[in-house]
Amino acid sequence: MKKQERKRVARVARGGGLKRKPDRDMRVFVTRPIAEPALRRLAAMVRVDLWDDEMPPPHAELLARALPADGVLSMVTDRFDAAAIRALPRLRVISNLAVGIDNIDLAAATRAGVAVGHTPGILTETTADLAFGLLMAAARRIAEGDRYIRGGRWRTWGPKVMLGRDVHGATLGIIGWGAIGQAMARRAAGFGMRVLYLPGRSTARPVRGARARVSGTGPSKAETRSLRSLLAESDFVSLHVPLTAATYHIIGAAELAAMKRTAILINTARGAVVDSEALAAALRAGRLAGAGLDVTDPEPIGMDDPLLELPNVVITPHIGSASHATRLRMAELAVDNVIDVFERRRPRHCSNPAVRMR
Ligand code: DGY
Repeated sequence: MKKQERKRVARVARGGGLKRKPDRDMRVFVTRPIAEPALRRLAAMVRVDLWDDEMPPPHAELLARALPADGVLSMVTDRFDAAAIRALPRLRVISNLAVGIDNIDLAAATRAGVAVGHTPGILTETTADLAFGLLMAAARRIAEGDRYIRGGRWRTWGPKVMLGRDVHGATLGIIGWGAIGQAMARRAAGFGMRVLYLPGRSTARPVRGARARVSGTGPSKAETRSLRSLLAESDFVSLHVPLTAATYHIIGAAELAAMKRTAILINTARGAVVDSEALAAALRAGRLAGAGLDVTDPEPIGMDDPLLELPNVVITPHIGSASHATRLRMAELAVDNVIDVFERRRPRHCSNPAVRMR
């Protein structure tokens, strides 16, 4: 083989044979400050326009800044509906700094030839950590205990003070058996919990008698159930489904009524998978023992929302993936997804693989 040919083969073997370097004139609108190393890497390759504010750009501003851009590195708070996508004829990629892509009209993006990237996998364990933390906090009244002390109400140790619910040995029902749901099951196995799950990522029917091994936990098994049986048998129900038309209000008044009065609902998925009015009513009426919510509908939750008046609700501000290490990895992956498109490949984590890219 000639020397030049050998060089070409080596370049192809490194995955570099067919791609083009991103053009320095490519423009990317980054809609919020992301981890600096990732932002610096992006800025070294393309022209970056950064929305340098904690608050998201208002929708009109989002469209105005995205108009001259070839790519947008977006957040879950940036809405790309069909009209927005139509208004951005130059756009080639929307790279969402999230696994969820319910802020983007995927069908419209696919029709328009806009690739949509997202960041699955790397946030699985971090999100499951928070989900399990909320479960513990709601069951053992951790946030409530903190408020109790700070409010000057702790007068003595008492045999009936701040009684909660045991986590060990309890039954956990997982709705959404994707990566995060299974990571939650692994944590539950460590606490000796029995795990039930609704298969699929949304509302698929269970296969009668099916069992799944909860990997990394020895002999532990999770058992599949219908939604009704899972709700009726579980002490804790944890939601791990994406928000779609099929999962919108998957937990409403009827589902809450099917749960044990002593049960606790955990939601780290999306606020709108739960009917929050029905949830507040069930908690207020004592038809449910508590809730641990990292996501609400709307976000941010209104300060007059009835859920905030209930002591048995623990709420965090959509921080499932918010660890330093994970947000850095998400930013790096979101940058990779953008660069992939500029190098004429689909994003390595592409939500619309059928897209015929512009
Ligand atoms: C996601 O990744 O979808 C989260 O909700 C945002 O971190």
